[in-house]
Amino acid sequence: MIIKVKEPQPEEIKQLRPGMIVFCYFHFASSRELTEGCLKKSIAAMAYETLVDEQGHLPLLTPMSEVAGKMSIQEGAKCLEKPMMGRGILLGGVSGVEPAAVLILGGGVVGTNAARVAAGLGAIVTIMDINLDRLRHLDDIMPRQVTTIYSDPHALQQYAVEADLIIGAVLIPGAKAPVLIDRQILRRMRKGSVIVDVSIDQGGCCETSRPTTHSDPIFVVDDVVHYCVTNMPGAVGRTSTQALCNATISYCRELAGLGLDAFVAGSEGRAAALNMRDGRLLHPAVAKAFPDMPHG
Ligand SMILES: NC(=O)c1ccc[n+]([C@@H]2O[C@H](COP(=O)([O-])OP(=O)(O)OC[C@H]3O[C@@H](n4cnc5c(N)ncnc54)[C@H](O)[C@@H]3O)[C@@H](O)[C@H]2O)c1
Repeated sequence: MIIKVKEPQPEEIKQLRPGMIVFCYFHFASSRELTEGCLKKSIAAMAYETLVDEQGHLPLLTPMSEVAGKMSIQEGAKCLEKPMMGRGILLGGVSGVEPAAVLILGGGVVGTNAARVAAGLGAIVTIMDINLDRLRHLDDIMPRQVTTIYSDPHALQQYAVEADLIIGAVLIPGAKAPVLIDRQILRRMRKGSVIVDVSIDQGGCCETSRPTTHSDPIFVVDDVVHYCVTNMPGAVGRTSTQALCNATISYCRELAGLGLDAFVAGSEGRAAALNMRDGRLLHPAVAKAFPDMPHG
């Protein structure tokens, strides 16, 4: 059994052996190469990002989402500065000058943490989601300058073209992220506005997003700055390691102690972590992303 953080890299895939349990983040739906590579090796791929706990939450995604959500505003605020090709505005404004408008797509863990930080810095914040219960909950707990809006294509377009900073934070577990900001919307956005596409690890929610790294984090399309780092928490590794280990340790112990079969038999949520085994895709959303690969 191998426990790690990031999905196996091409060099590492070569070293995998049939039947090995690999317990880490995979995000299969965003990479055909990784999925094919791991299927060929017949590993048992246990994905952190699809394990579900008794409350229906994704406990091994949560700590990294908390980190990435908080970081997204820090990074976005920096990108809004002129030397970073942004609009040249301060997120919180100053006396007599209006603050930035921040639009957060997806009000889950990333979205909530981003909203808290953005509101704390004084920005005007809008959170969009398609889950009404989630929006109601956010409305209860968020400060007054945070507005919740039900996300439909019309409202999305209206808020996106007026935003200074957009945070992409949507998730359909296991699946490729839905494209919410298409090229048409992008062309109408403000010159120098910024998109931090946190959901890039699931393919991204902006049509023009492509994965970037901490050493070269941004690029510009249609005068909009894109920040699409796939492993944002890696930049604050000390905080992230502690947060991730706090969440994974009990599952690692249980999996190692019981073995794979007894572990996945323990609950539906634990079974949901098993994305592939014996050369077949087992998670429905991953199988849907690659209908041509063996599944079921
Ligand atoms: N880049 C990174 O370093 C990094 C780090 C951590 C997490 N992430 C990614 O961030 C994303 C969000 O993670 P999370 O933990 O906040 O997920 P979450 O499940 O807590 O929240 C996702 C939210 O998106 C909403 N949503 C789904 N489809 C939508 C749509 N079409 N329009 C509007 N809202 C929609 C859901 O209702 C939900 O509230 C995931 O893709 C995750 O993998 C990236």
